[in-house]
Amino acid sequence: MCGIVGYIGNKEAKPILLEGLRKLEYRGYDSAGIALANADGVHVYKEKGRIAALADRIDQETFATMGIGHTRWATHGKPNRENAHPHQSASGRFSLVHNGVIDNYEALRNEYLANVTLISETDTEVIVQMIEQFVYDGMMVEEALRRTLSLVHGSYAIALIDSKDAETIYVGKNKSPLLVGQGDGFNVVASDALAMLQVTNQFFEIMDEEIVVVKKESITIKNLQGDVQVRAPFTAELDASDIEKGTYPHYMLKEIDEQPAVMRNIITAYQGDSGKIELDQDIREAVKNADRLYIIACGTSFHAGLVGKQLLEGIAKVPTEVHIASEFSYNMPLLSEKPLFIFISQSGETADSRSVLVQVKKLGYPTITLTNVQGSTLSREADHTLLLHAGPEIAVASTKAYTAQIAVLTLLAVDVATTKDLHHDFDVIHELSLVAQAMEVLVDQKELMEHLAHNYFETVRNAFYIGRGIDYYVCMEAALKLKEISYIQAEGFAGGELKHGTIALIEEGTPVIAIATQSHVNGSIRSNLKEVAARGANTCIISMESTAEDDDQIILPEVHEYLTPLVAAVPVQLLAYYAALQRDCDVDKPRNLAKSVTVE
Ligand code: F6R
Repeated sequence: MCGIVGYIGNKEAKPILLEGLRKLEYRGYDSAGIALANADGVHVYKEKGRIAALADRIDQETFATMGIGHTRWATHGKPNRENAHPHQSASGRFSLVHNGVIDNYEALRNEYLANVTLISETDTEVIVQMIEQFVYDGMMVEEALRRTLSLVHGSYAIALIDSKDAETIYVGKNKSPLLVGQGDGFNVVASDALAMLQVTNQFFEIMDEEIVVVKKESITIKNLQGDVQVRAPFTAELDASDIEKGTYPHYMLKEIDEQPAVMRNIITAYQGDSGKIELDQDIREAVKNADRLYIIACGTSFHAGLVGKQLLEGIAKVPTEVHIASEFSYNMPLLSEKPLFIFISQSGETADSRSVLVQVKKLGYPTITLTNVQGSTLSREADHTLLLHAGPEIAVASTKAYTAQIAVLTLLAVDVATTKDLHHDFDVIHELSLVAQAMEVLVDQKELMEHLAHNYFETVRNAFYIGRGIDYYVCMEAALKLKEISYIQAEGFAGGELKHGTIALIEEGTPVIAIATQSHVNGSIRSNLKEVAARGANTCIISMESTAEDDDQIILPEVHEYLTPLVAAVPVQLLAYYAALQRDCDVDKPRNLAKSVTVE
């Protein structure tokens, strides 16, 4: 979490930094700040809240062609102005922004900063104060930076400026994402290429435990020992227009609407010359050689993994387990003889998932990352990558990445089944095309979803989604979408399990929405809905079949039974969207959250 930016060149830095921070707000938005350096020294502006609040605070008279900026998701210390970045050293000479967590900051403070009064409650301030102490001890700035970073344990992407040198930005990285971008007569720093696409699409990947000395005309990458590392830049294959909202009021709505196109993009991306789906030979081999797949993920990606298990076991007949990354890392189950790990992560940066990746790589197991972000940490560090091709997902609540994850897992399952010569009559390209059409029908039903959201969610505190089998997994995702953006306490429940305790929570008006897409359980889930209706619940059913006795219903177009999660996802995303709107919530930036969770 947190996003950092930096600019050094000939143009005014302020608008470039602010625009970059706006693009990074998805990484955190508790507070923000920038430091601008010019011949008069360094000018630091910070504010609690969003970038817009920071922009209002900056003195318009300050002109500088170099600066650094930060948007924060608080880990250590409250989200207030004191704890906002940039942090400054005691003399004010050095200013620093940081994304990550310094695990040993208390030990470092006790050992190196006993005589320094710290101003903030953050772990970050320790870094900038230590750099100043080492400079007092006689080190050059770069050496002081390398020395400090070699003592730090934890994750960091940092940018540092020195008020005595308006020609250099110093950068350091370990475990947190960071890129240095190259321009004509200027250079930039960013947590994510998205932030600086406005000025360049040429970026240098920075590895863990490297520092970079960034000047207007040069970029010098070194390791912590000071040895220069030679590397070519890469071109970020992103279209700046992909990250604009266009005429949409919210990114979330735009991203929900993009799902039919994403399904088609995925087909195109993975269709070989034969017209059939063809995955990378190495990925096929890896899956074929495994006796069990272990899917590791968090949140929505975990929910996609649960659906993926049904597909991989059902179509490809490979035993599959799905684990929450943060649990797996300290509570590893007994593994099979030949496990293959599949990490599902929209951002490719989630620290909990990465920590498992590091662990299993040490054990020598093969790994695949399924991600939306090429070049992300999990993609770089796993043996193989399967891309989602969903385009940048900006809204904090994941929508199109979730359905893209399920679609790519379907392709994986089918490809493996084909290479194992397993008989199946599942024409995946045709079936996913039908899904795209079905999604188009559903995204056009916004008025119905808005009306139902009003009926079910406008004033309630609690809600339930119930389902059985694969529908249960979609219920978990439906509940997560509703709770994260509308703040309604929502639960996705296995239909049959409700009566074993939780039914006690049902009272007059409690919304219970059933997802019933599977013919073999439709009867039982409808019975479960009747049980709660008899106790006062306000019920609704999402299904392919309509019956006269159903009250409110959302009818889904017919698709293959394996792929119903892809279509059931659309109405539940829209219900959550309208519920949040009606309750005056900030749809794209729900409280306490950040898009990319880079702390464990
Ligand atoms: C919810 C949501 C989160 C993410 C989770 C994992 O809408 O987006 O639950 O799914 O934080 O993030 P990634 O997929 O980037 O690893």
